[in-house]
Amino acid sequence: MPVPHDVANINLAPEGVRRIDWAAREMPVLRLIRERFQRDQPLKGIRMTACLHVTTETANLAITLRDAGADLRVCASNPLSTQDDVAAALVKEYGISVFATHGEDNETYYRHIHQALEHSPQLTMDDGADVVAVLHKDRRDLLPGVVGGTEETTTGVIRLRAMAADGALGYPIVAINEADTKHLFDNRYGTGQSTIDGIIRATNVLLAGKNFVVAGYGWCGRGVASRARGMGAQVIVTEVDPVKALEAVMDGYRVMPMAQAATEGDIFVTLTGDLNVIDRQHLEAMKDGAIMANSGHFDSEINLKALTAMSEGRKRVRDSVEEFRIQDGRKLYLLGEGRLVNLAAAEGHPAAVMDMSFANQALGAEWIALNHARLEKQVYELPQEVDEEIAGLKLHAMGIKIDYLTDEQKRYLTSWQEGT
Ligand code: ADE
Repeated sequence: MPVPHDVANINLAPEGVRRIDWAAREMPVLRLIRERFQRDQPLKGIRMTACLHVTTETANLAITLRDAGADLRVCASNPLSTQDDVAAALVKEYGISVFATHGEDNETYYRHIHQALEHSPQLTMDDGADVVAVLHKDRRDLLPGVVGGTEETTTGVIRLRAMAADGALGYPIVAINEADTKHLFDNRYGTGQSTIDGIIRATNVLLAGKNFVVAGYGWCGRGVASRARGMGAQVIVTEVDPVKALEAVMDGYRVMPMAQAATEGDIFVTLTGDLNVIDRQHLEAMKDGAIMANSGHFDSEINLKALTAMSEGRKRVRDSVEEFRIQDGRKLYLLGEGRLVNLAAAEGHPAAVMDMSFANQALGAEWIALNHARLEKQVYELPQEVDEEIAGLKLHAMGIKIDYLTDEQKRYLTSWQEGT
C-alpha cells in the first residue's frame, strides 16, 4: 500500500534512487547521524511535516528522519525546485509521503502544504516559514498539537523573529540558519557556486569580462561575488548597510547604488531578502540585453509587475530564460521566473555543503523533540557544541587534522593575571 502522495511520475523512482545515492557519497556527517538515529530512535512515532526543496540532498535528510522513527510528510518550499525523480523515489523506494511536483502553480503549491499537514504534525521543518505561515493563518486548529519546529533559511528566521516579537508565534522554533556550520558554508559557498551554476546552465554566457552586479552583501552575496570574480567578471556590489558596503569595498569590489549599477550591469543577481531591489526605474535604465536572476528566497526582489507592464511581449528563449521586449525596443532577460535561480535552473547547493546544513536540521529536530517542554514560544539557536561537533565530524570526513590547546594554553586563555 503506497504512502499518501502527489508526485509527477512515480516511474521516475529508479533515476531518483541513483541520484540520491550519488549525493549520499558527499554527506558523511549526515550518514553518521543517521547511523546513530537508527540505534537511538530519537524521533520515534513523532509526526513531522517538512517543507523543503525536494532535492537529492533533502532526500538524504528525509531518510535520516524516517530512520530516526519519524512519521514524515514532505512538501516543496518552492514551486520550481522539486526534482520529480527524487519525489518519486522517496514515495516508492523509501516509503516517505511526498506532495510536490516541479512547476506546480500557486494553488497546487499551497494544496500540497495543506496535504502535508493533514496528519497533524507535532514537529515542523521549514525552509522559508511557509508551513508556519499556513499553520498560523489557515490551520490554527492544528497549532495546539505542534510542540516545536526548525527553520532553514535567513528569510524564514526573519519572518519567525517578527512573529515572536509580536507574540504571534505558536510554538518554539530552532533557527538552523544561525549555526556557523550552516550560514558560513551553505550561504557562502553553497549559494556562491550554485547561483553561478544556475546562471551558466540557463544562459551559457561567458562571465569573464562582464559587469556582474550583486545586490546584497550578506553571506550569500559574498559567496556569489567571490565566485563571479573567480570567473573573471567585473563585480559591482549594491548594499544598504554601510558596514557591509565598506566590507565589499575593502574586499576589492566596486560599490554603488542600484540606480548607477543598473546602467552598467550585464548580469544582475539579487540576494537581499527584500522586495523590489530591482525596481521600475532600474529596469528603465538597464542596457539592452541585460540578464537578471534572483537567488534570494522569494521571487519578490525583481519587480516583475513593472517588468511585465513595461513589456509589449515576452517569450521563452531557452529553458529558464524569458525575453521581455520592452516598449522602447530593448530586450531584458529574466532567469527562472525570478525564483531562486540556483534551484530553478540548477540543482541547488552541492551535497557536501548541504551535509552540514542538514546535519544541523537533523540534530535540531532531535534537540527540539527532547527540549520543547522547557522552551518558550520563541526562536532558539542550537547550542555551540552542536556546531563544534558538526565541524569536527566534517573535518574528520575530509581527512583533515587540527591542533588542540595544551593545558598550559588553556590556563593562559582563562587567566586574567597572565600578561606580558
Ligand atoms: N537549498 C539550497 N540548495 C539546496 C539543496 N541542494 N537541497 C535542499 N535545499 C537547498
